[in-house]
Amino acid sequence: MSQKQEEQDLQQQDKKETEKEKEKEDKTEKEQEEEKEEKNQKPLKKKKEKQQEDQVYGKLISLNRGISSVTITKPKTTIGRSSTNTLQINHPKISKKHFVISFKQRKKKNSEELDYTFKLTDTSSNGVFVNSGLVGKNNTVDLKHGYEITLLNPRQMGRPIPTHRFFFHDLRLVKPLKGVSGLATKYTFCWDLDEGGYGKVSLATHNETYETVAIKIIPKNKFYDPKKEGWQSQKVKYVNEINVLKDLRHPNIIELKEVYDTEENLYLVMEYVEGGDLFYRISDKHKYQEDEARELFKNILETIKFLHDKGYVHRDLKPDNILLLNKESDTDIKLCDFGFARLIPESGEISTKVGTINYRAPETLTVGSFGKECDLWSCGVILYILLSGLMPFHQKRKTPLHQQILWAQYNFPEDVFKNISLAGKNLIRRLIQINPEHRLTAEEALEHPWITGEFEKIKDEMQGIHNK
Ligand SMILES: Nc1ncnc2c1ncn2[C@@H]1O[C@H](COP(=O)(O)OP(=O)(O)OP(=O)(O)O)[C@@H](O)[C@H]1O
Ligand SMILES: [Mg+2]
Repeated sequence: MSQKQEEQDLQQQDKKETEKEKEKEDKTEKEQEEEKEEKNQKPLKKKKEKQQEDQVYGKLISLNRGISSVTITKPKTTIGRSSTNTLQINHPKISKKHFVISFKQRKKKNSEELDYTFKLTDTSSNGVFVNSGLVGKNNTVDLKHGYEITLLNPRQMGRPIPTHRFFFHDLRLVKPLKGVSGLATKYTFCWDLDEGGYGKVSLATHNETYETVAIKIIPKNKFYDPKKEGWQSQKVKYVNEINVLKDLRHPNIIELKEVYDTEENLYLVMEYVEGGDLFYRISDKHKYQEDEARELFKNILETIKFLHDKGYVHRDLKPDNILLLNKESDTDIKLCDFGFARLIPESGEISTKVGTINYRAPETLTVGSFGKECDLWSCGVILYILLSGLMPFHQKRKTPLHQQILWAQYNFPEDVFKNISLAGKNLIRRLIQINPEHRLTAEEALEHPWITGEFEKIKDEMQGIHNK
């Protein structure tokens, strides 16, 4: 849409909205009814209303840098483009009054105690989404603690626009964090992004800048309790993750912003990336088209090359540890989870058995010692999955998984791989090599013809690899 047309649309939209405002003072029927009802509730007189205004009942937590959070203190809180709103968001696609949050107090049944509820009314032209569902013009829905509110649907708008997202807190349900005064005053926790054996990763927002962050919370009893098996190696893992991340600064590596160390937990505050991890993206897409896979894989290899040049080996490369920058891009990445990463010693080898077995190189299963070559094996497995949506090595075969890996026992099923270029298969083959010395390095892989397009270079080698 041209800028001129957009401006015209905007003017028309403004005109329509102004007319409506005149007719109804911008109130929906439901709102008017609710107001009547409020007026009829005589017992809750002005004094109580005054109290209501002073007390904070809820909070709309901004997940957008530069847009502030809003405290809910009044019966009506409005968000929109006009300056008369409680929060003004100046964006052409946002309506003058985009949505309203109504807050209503009632006496609890058979009690003098007061209870309250929150409702959201969509008054926009371009939509309000609560937990990803469209509310719909003039519709009202209940608003509960933990709900996510998104203004406009970026996919529906046809081109990338800034998303405006909020997270709703019913302050009755917010538990204060214990023993982390600095962290608790600086950040507001929103929801959990992932929960695993180690603890969890939560989304939080900075109370002043409204920047979103991901906070990995690691309970110390997991690794400081000598009675628990493996506690020492767990301790090493997280202390290690902190040290490695502090030492690495790269646009494709997750940034560790700060660490909070309390009696109970370790908190790793990291930059937040909103695209989810590659594991989910592959599940959604099933597999990547070859050109997209090439762009993504090149980014992965460049990141690994940087890591190796700095003297580190990641040792746990897999789609779950590769995050995508946003929902729109399938190829821009940030590498995370450096719990197993190590500095490569002079000898070039480290000897502990770590990593997820399906992605592990054979030398890590036998002698248990491995250098940076193990990361390239994992890259080969990842490329196989990207191009086919299948795992090259998996439990469901007759041959035990260990054996499949030790013998590099995999193939390129014709029905799935028939449309994949020979160069792509060749690169997989050059990475999934039993002998680490025969495996391509990250630098060599970046020069492989599948990446560079110089297919002539491997013409002879490619004969007869249709099926390995
Ligand atoms: N910075 C981040 N931004 C967005 N999501 C993240 C971020 N860090 C982690 N996540 C999400 O949390 C998941 C788990 O994080 P991570 O891989 O660091 O821990 P883990 O693998 O469970 O930990 P561990 O290896 O200690 O068991 C990731 O797969 C990803 O989905
Ligand atoms: Mg992980």
